[in-house]
Amino acid sequence: MNYDIQDPALAEVGKQRIYWADRFMPVLSQIRERFEIEKPLTGVRIAACLHVTTETANLMRTLKAGGAETVLCASNPLSTQDDVAASLVVDCQIPVFAIKGEDTETYYRHIDAAIDFQPTITMDDGADLVSKLHSGEVEASIVDGVLAGTEETTTGVIRLKSMAAEGVLKYPIVAVNDAQTKHLFDNRYGTGQSTLDGIIRATNLLMAGSTFVVAGYGWCSRGLANRARGLGAEVIVTEVNPLTALEAIMDGFRVMPMIEAVKEAEVICTVTGNIHVIRGEHFEVMKDGCIVANSGHFNVEIDISALENLSQEQTTIREFVEEYTLKDGRKVYLLGQGRLINLAAAEGHPASVMDMSFANQALSAEHIIQRHQKMENQVYGVPQDIDRTIASLKLKAFGVEIDQLTEEQETYLNSWTMGT
Ligand code: NAI
Repeated sequence: MNYDIQDPALAEVGKQRIYWADRFMPVLSQIRERFEIEKPLTGVRIAACLHVTTETANLMRTLKAGGAETVLCASNPLSTQDDVAASLVVDCQIPVFAIKGEDTETYYRHIDAAIDFQPTITMDDGADLVSKLHSGEVEASIVDGVLAGTEETTTGVIRLKSMAAEGVLKYPIVAVNDAQTKHLFDNRYGTGQSTLDGIIRATNLLMAGSTFVVAGYGWCSRGLANRARGLGAEVIVTEVNPLTALEAIMDGFRVMPMIEAVKEAEVICTVTGNIHVIRGEHFEVMKDGCIVANSGHFNVEIDISALENLSQEQTTIREFVEEYTLKDGRKVYLLGQGRLINLAAAEGHPASVMDMSFANQALSAEHIIQRHQKMENQVYGVPQDIDRTIASLKLKAFGVEIDQLTEEQETYLNSWTMGT
């Protein structure tokens, strides 16, 4: 078996951590148990380009239990947990190509290794694997062999929808991110909590009393803003969408343009999926000592070149904290090279929320096998029945029961003739 990981000797630690995560993933465990018996993925070859975390390991175990042959590479150079990669190779015999801190060349070499595996399904987080498959550099027979793929995150779905709109997408994609049991929970509660976790682990900062600026008020960023407020920070939101800005106001946040917010901010975190949200003009007026981080998918939200151009000196102060001394003596602290801080400096989302995201991945893979012949080269949502099944299983795992519609209520809700 070919693989490229940091050190197989880390497997024992990784195995324990994967087991710990699994205890909080009851929905995925139930799917795995069914897959063990039914083997719905027999003969399927899955190349996954995902953050190599304990939760991803449990997804890979589930796909393998379903009969699939799998390979895993990283979806970000800084998000790999080397002990998890080791355990997947040593304990699960799943080939992994991922090393935390790998350079760009190695990152793409690892994606190439996943492509060489000749997948029939791709599982992406950010669409780097799909992009490489569509680059024209990959043998046509490999691309033609892919039946369909899944996509985990907002940025990836945006990229893939734009490929579909241009008519260049060569196989169908299921947008796992768009499932309600994914983005309403993973993006909001998962990114919200783990982004703070990353910022706190990197800096050991006291949130209470700090002025914390969140760029965006989408699913991830509203989660972050609300959790930062919960820790006692004074939170300012920046937005470009008038509707979401209005929601932020009515949720009780101050809203202002970034150029004003940077003058007050002690911490700024971008989570927009957009480019250069913090740029030269912002660094020029930023408060001395400001800590800047990103939790959006790509490290494009902070214009790091602009920061470098404005700086006279750069020092690593502690792990994941880079001090930039600007030419006028002010300091700016950049966390985790501007890469998604929850995965760079912490462990990513808690397992309990990834339980639902990865249940969507596993069931979407099964759905693809059943339905791919009827799918066009478009981006599809996750079928509603999968969403409802996952929500019901998660509620059951929480030990929560809910009411059922009575016959009378069902009739009432479906009728236009019944008024008062
Ligand atoms: P979303 O579409 O729900 O929200 C993005 C928000 O940012 C929108 O309200 C938009 O109006 C706003 N925005 C865009 N440009 C802006 C600008 N220049 N200034 C201020 N606001 C701006 O997207 P979602 O789901 O919240 O995802 C955001 C990013 O986070 C994506 O890149 C996504 O892939 C990534 N993500 C990261 C995760 C992590 O683990 N760190 C997990 C899930 C998603």
